[in-house]
Amino acid sequence: MIDQITIGRIQDSAQIVDVVSDFVTLRRRGVNMVGLCPFHEDRNPSFYVSPAKNICKCFACGEGGSPIHFIMKHEQLSYYEALKYLARKYNIEVVEKEFTDEEKQVQSDRESMFILNEYARDYFVKTLHTHPEGKAVGLSYFRERGLRDDIIKKFQLGYSLEQRDAFSVEAQKAGYVKDYLIKTGLSAGGEHNQPLYDRFRGRVIFPVHTLSGKVVAFGGRILKKAENTGKYVNSPESEIYSKSKELYGIYFAKSAIVKQDKCFLVEGYTDVLSMHQAGIENVVSSSGTALTHGQIRMIHRFSENITVIYDGDTAGINAALRGIDLLLEEGMNVKVVLLPEGEDPDSFAKKQNAESFQKYISENETDFIRFKTELLIKEVGDDPVKKAGMISNIVNSISLIPNTITRSVYIQECSQLLNMQERVLIAEINKIRRRSWEKKREQKDKELTKIGEIVISENDEVNTTSNGTNKKATVKSPYDRYEREILRYIVRYGNTPLYQKFEKRKRKEGKTIIEEDVLLEEGPGVTEFVHFDLERDNISFNNELYQLMLDEAVSNIDNKKFDAAHFFLNYPDPKVSKLASELLSDRYHLSKIHSKILGEEVGDKSSRLLEQNLLQNYVPRATTELKNAYVLTKIDELKEEIKKSNPDNYSVYITRLQQLQEIKKVLAKELGERIVLKY
Ligand code: CTP
Ligand code: MN
Repeated sequence: MIDQITIGRIQDSAQIVDVVSDFVTLRRRGVNMVGLCPFHEDRNPSFYVSPAKNICKCFACGEGGSPIHFIMKHEQLSYYEALKYLARKYNIEVVEKEFTDEEKQVQSDRESMFILNEYARDYFVKTLHTHPEGKAVGLSYFRERGLRDDIIKKFQLGYSLEQRDAFSVEAQKAGYVKDYLIKTGLSAGGEHNQPLYDRFRGRVIFPVHTLSGKVVAFGGRILKKAENTGKYVNSPESEIYSKSKELYGIYFAKSAIVKQDKCFLVEGYTDVLSMHQAGIENVVSSSGTALTHGQIRMIHRFSENITVIYDGDTAGINAALRGIDLLLEEGMNVKVVLLPEGEDPDSFAKKQNAESFQKYISENETDFIRFKTELLIKEVGDDPVKKAGMISNIVNSISLIPNTITRSVYIQECSQLLNMQERVLIAEINKIRRRSWEKKREQKDKELTKIGEIVISENDEVNTTSNGTNKKATVKSPYDRYEREILRYIVRYGNTPLYQKFEKRKRKEGKTIIEEDVLLEEGPGVTEFVHFDLERDNISFNNELYQLMLDEAVSNIDNKKFDAAHFFLNYPDPKVSKLASELLSDRYHLSKIHSKILGEEVGDKSSRLLEQNLLQNYVPRATTELKNAYVLTKIDELKEEIKKSNPDNYSVYITRLQQLQEIKKVLAKELGERIVLKY
């Protein structure tokens, strides 16, 4: 237990920016800091950290809270453990008694497993450094491989004795129970009162650390020529360990990744160690398996740039190719370095110092598309069928890149390398993107009942009568004002992207240094967003005129030069042009509204920028409000129906009501996350 005074001291010391920064790279934005949310798939920073309030919050998924909450959630710790974590971080002394046998049992499974793993790590480390067999066999093995003592210590490498149950016996003597020895996979056997034996016996040990340095698993390497066991044995999957979520070395690499704004990815344990030893610390390993989304996101939180280093042989090249589509899809900038044939990062690093290794990397680093294209060109030769296959393969990879600008750069490069017209490549890529977008949408739709479907299809009669409740309403549907609001954005902004991200870059021109804004990323166009967002829920405008205008705008989605305002103002049908001019009235100039609220005048250029960043907020808000109106109307109608209906039918109604209320909750949450401004 921790006493109240200590808890208070921990709460006072824990600084949210500090605590979060250990896991997320934060950038300053106004008085706050922002970063990619660690709790959901976040591609644009939605995670806000407020130093003033000492809290964090994700505006997209809602996770967050105090430093203690953050640690509990992020590290999957109990309240008590989170306090201990923070106490350690801030060097606050927590007086704790040794766990009694009883207490050890009472602890939750996860906690117990972590405690046992820590014990095991210490045991293996101690064995390596002090036991005669450990020194003679384990330590000398590491030294023979050229590993320095500081690296051996830093990575907490260890040794597990040859004797089949040395560890299991020792651990049980120390009070650790069989159950957890089995659950962590440190021991095996033990059925029918048979004795336990050690999973890692006779192996050198590589502990696997989480982002925060806790030991979740072990890898054990055999020292002799492998007879019939694998070269490595790893901890089995367990309540605390999922191989596909961890990255070997991340704990030791994270600050270097941030500093260099780049992460190296290698294949194995020893590659990580040797690169560290050569002074390159921003390196992690996926431990011989294909990368997963979760692992990539973990890296992404610290940097967007990843360089994959693999052996120069065919196996290495294939391994490099395998993981890369996934990296592209997650929006990483991917580069590849192939080492000279026969070398892996481990062997190569040993022949280099930090400087020459870095030099080799920077000279041999190729962006991924070029790498893949050149490789395939070599492979394919002149065979036209194979060539078509190759093109579609490359185009597929490019189509995965979420960032429009990066994509177009690659398209350009590819068109030169393949000697093909850009136009053709773009068309092909757009086709693939549309298809995969549709697939994703279908999946989402399966999960959530479509709002439009519930509301419209089932109750056409009610829809017409319900307008009667709106006494004065002429022919206007209750949705009119929301539809009109959405249309306003379409007419005013057309294909303007919802948001754009810029980065300041310095460029030298002659002797002067020019600072310029470089476009990094942009969102979908306003029309495009509205179109897909409504279609996703099967909603079309009730007002036919509005719908006609939306359709017109949609048919111009791909036209970069499309000027929606001009187009609608000059539309042959006067009903359209009149409405357009109403919608364009300056009263609704977004940046004006905003600058009025902020109480400051903004210049023309920044006003345009401001306006755009506002779109990101307002347009999704407008479509959500329409959906919300649908759902609210429907709930009211359903309640009326329930009143009038036969009690036997209640259960059907109730299910539907619950369904609607569920959707209402989701929508309310979405609305709550967006800034509300009154016009
Ligand atoms: N690996 C594994 N089980 C195996 C073989 C490999 O888990 N039977 C994983 C390990 O994480 C290993 C990585 O895949 O580090 C890469 O495999 P490999 O290149 O064979 O191992 P190295 O790390 O190079 O090990 P060493 O240099 O000691 O042979
Ligand atoms: Mn190796």
